[in-house]
Amino acid sequence: MNIAVVGTGYVGLVSGTCFAETGNHVICVDNNESKVESLQNGQLTIYEPGLELLFGRNTKEGRLTFTTDLEYAIKKSEIIFLALPTPPGEDGSADLSYVLGVAEQLGEMMDDYKVIVDKSTVPVGTAEKVTAAIAKKAKVDFDVVSNPEFLREGVAVDDFLKPDRVVIGTSSERAQKVMHRLYEPFVRQGNPIYFMDERSAEMTKYAANSYLATRITFMNEIANLCEIVGANVDMVRIGMGSDSRIGKRFLFPGVGYGGSCFPKDVQALAKTAKDNDYDFNILNSVMNVNNRQKHVLSEKIIKHFGGDLTGRTIALWGLAFKPNTDDIREAPAIYIIEDLLAAGATVTAYDPEAMENMRALFGDKVNFVEHRYDALKDASCLAIVTEWSIFRTPDFSYIAELMKEKVIFDGRNLYSLEDMEEIGFYYNSIGRNS
Ligand code: UGA
Repeated sequence: MNIAVVGTGYVGLVSGTCFAETGNHVICVDNNESKVESLQNGQLTIYEPGLELLFGRNTKEGRLTFTTDLEYAIKKSEIIFLALPTPPGEDGSADLSYVLGVAEQLGEMMDDYKVIVDKSTVPVGTAEKVTAAIAKKAKVDFDVVSNPEFLREGVAVDDFLKPDRVVIGTSSERAQKVMHRLYEPFVRQGNPIYFMDERSAEMTKYAANSYLATRITFMNEIANLCEIVGANVDMVRIGMGSDSRIGKRFLFPGVGYGGSCFPKDVQALAKTAKDNDYDFNILNSVMNVNNRQKHVLSEKIIKHFGGDLTGRTIALWGLAFKPNTDDIREAPAIYIIEDLLAAGATVTAYDPEAMENMRALFGDKVNFVEHRYDALKDASCLAIVTEWSIFRTPDFSYIAELMKEKVIFDGRNLYSLEDMEEIGFYYNSIGRNS
């Protein structure tokens, strides 16, 4: 099949590359010339494990190409994916100007039946707005489909190639057939493709992300309470999670959820509710609790050192909002660094992928180091902020040699309490200290 993907951000690049991998011809379009030039020259513009291999293979074999010429891509394709940004507007609602801006151009450019697919996370009712925008100038038949993506950064290629489910919102049988043919190779192991109406598909995405954000937030509150009442959240998590109605995954407490999706989507769903005069109380609490959770680790550190960190070095391991990505959008590390600097600390930091992005934000205010142990020289405290695998089994005796004080504040519960006690570290984690 011939496919155009408009927008070569995270979702567009992963989707386009994976569609090419199953033999389709994919043209990715972006209006950012330097980005397109890099991609044409074989340089990926995002970091995502496993993507490089697929990207290399499919560009080499000519199934994956890049252009700034929207009209050319549209004329060549029967399916057009819109993978454009929907950033939060000032009031928290998703800004649809990119999506609708492109939709308006499509009408004029289309010369044959096309299926236009909303891949971006868009509020309920957007498929209708996109249809109206295209219809203004369209002279041919078309269908607009809502097909939300459920990719997790860091494992996006796997999520795309082997999805738990595919959700397709369309009321057109013709479009259903096209979408079924496109996704069939990805669900060979029997996972479902759910067809539903457009509004339900749009809502499914917000409901899934908001539910997951709520689940994490609930566990963060349980963890905070565990600390107060002297319970261990690891035990509680296992005890709860083995109930098949609850399930074991996505119950890990930490320093709050971040990233480009959960914060934005929870906010946008709350706004949709508000616009419809519905008070979605849980979501307001989720946002408040998560904002608070991002400061839990720094507040503990500041308190531990008597309220003032002047003259002390605090080392951070992990800056990305989660492992296997260089993404720092809404990353808890940002808030933690701000708190530590405000309390007078010298902050040193290491992350395997996200240092450049964080440097762009903090510049010389943070001392970024090339190796994880370099962050620890003369440090009074090590703060673990992202659970990269490389941090899981460090050389603690070397750490003890480097640091001024043997103090670890762990926002991701990487180490066992017993081990840390045995080697004589002061160790404080999330929901595990009586
Ligand atoms: C999330 C969803 O998981 C994807 O299904 C969805 O497609 C994507 O948003 C999106 O809308 O594009 P992502 O933001 O990449 O994916 O990251 P997650 O792995 O879901 O993690 C989100 C945040 O929750 C991270 O800050 C992570 O540290 C935190 N988290 C996750 C926890 O604190 N505890 C957990 O148990 C799991």
